[in-house]
Amino acid sequence: VNRRAIVTGAGGGIGGATARRLAADGIEIGLFDIDAAAAHAVEADIVAAGGRAKAFVVDCGDPKAVTAACDSFAAALGRPDILVSGVAYERHGGLLQSEVADIRRALEITVVGAYALLQQVARSMLSSGGRILVISSPHAVKPFANAIGYNLAEAALRQLALTAAHELAPYRIAVNLVEPGWTDTPGERRHYSEEFLARSAASLPWGRRASPEEIAAAVAWLVSPEAAYVSGTTLRVDGAMAVSMARLPGV
Ligand SMILES: NC(=O)c1ccc[n+]([C@@H]2O[C@H](COP(=O)([O-])OP(=O)(O)OC[C@H]3O[C@@H](n4cnc5c(N)ncnc54)[C@H](O)[C@@H]3O)[C@@H](O)[C@H]2O)c1
Repeated sequence: VNRRAIVTGAGGGIGGATARRLAADGIEIGLFDIDAAAAHAVEADIVAAGGRAKAFVVDCGDPKAVTAACDSFAAALGRPDILVSGVAYERHGGLLQSEVADIRRALEITVVGAYALLQQVARSMLSSGGRILVISSPHAVKPFANAIGYNLAEAALRQLALTAAHELAPYRIAVNLVEPGWTDTPGERRHYSEEFLARSAASLPWGRRASPEEIAAAVAWLVSPEAAYVSGTTLRVDGAMAVSMARLPGV
């Protein structure tokens, strides 16, 4: 069967690895990214490896642009069977330092953009079902310090996905979350130095960060025919990071 997927943030670390993996599994990919060069580079990789992909340059934080890109995808490739939503706005800042504009931007890109995307894609899946996968974050449930906008937006994004899972079950549209732990991506290199990344990796329970391919493997299973009855759940891929966070002070 010829399956088609929209992957957002597909020019980045986790999105790019997911797009490559799903393409290797025989799925035709629409690569949505605001960065044209990054999206086209992943498109070229997939095509060179014998897969099928097409880049769409879109700001996923702009609902009108999302609608237009979904329409272009449908015109070029047809109805999507799978959506992987992986765009989030990440700017560090705590309660005391952040600006209202930052909080608004985080909610606009991470939540409103994803809402518009899920709504439009779900509408196109009503008659034949589908899979929606949202890339989540530990911040959705753990309030990390110095990331207030990201924390708020990730919590809302999680609730968006779970509400969608509830409402879309009668249409056989499965909605799940993959929650990566700390993953080695170009995005992380914008926030932290190489020296810090090397030092902090050693202190993780697994002794290293996840690779984007390890996150992509979880996505690939959740959108595979085998996982048809899995909906409304979160698959955490974090090398035991979350369970290792709770400690008695000083122990
Ligand atoms: N890297 C981690 O440790 C980690 C952990 C948990 C969750 N996540 C989540 O995984 C997702 C991907 O993270 P990553 O580390 O691979 O990031 P990344 O920076 O490597 O890639 C992000 C991609 O999204 C694109 N993008 C950004 N804003 C966009 C917009 N408005 N419209 C369209 N495209 C846009 C960028 O151009 C880039 O190609 C994010 O949702 C992030 O919150 C990452």
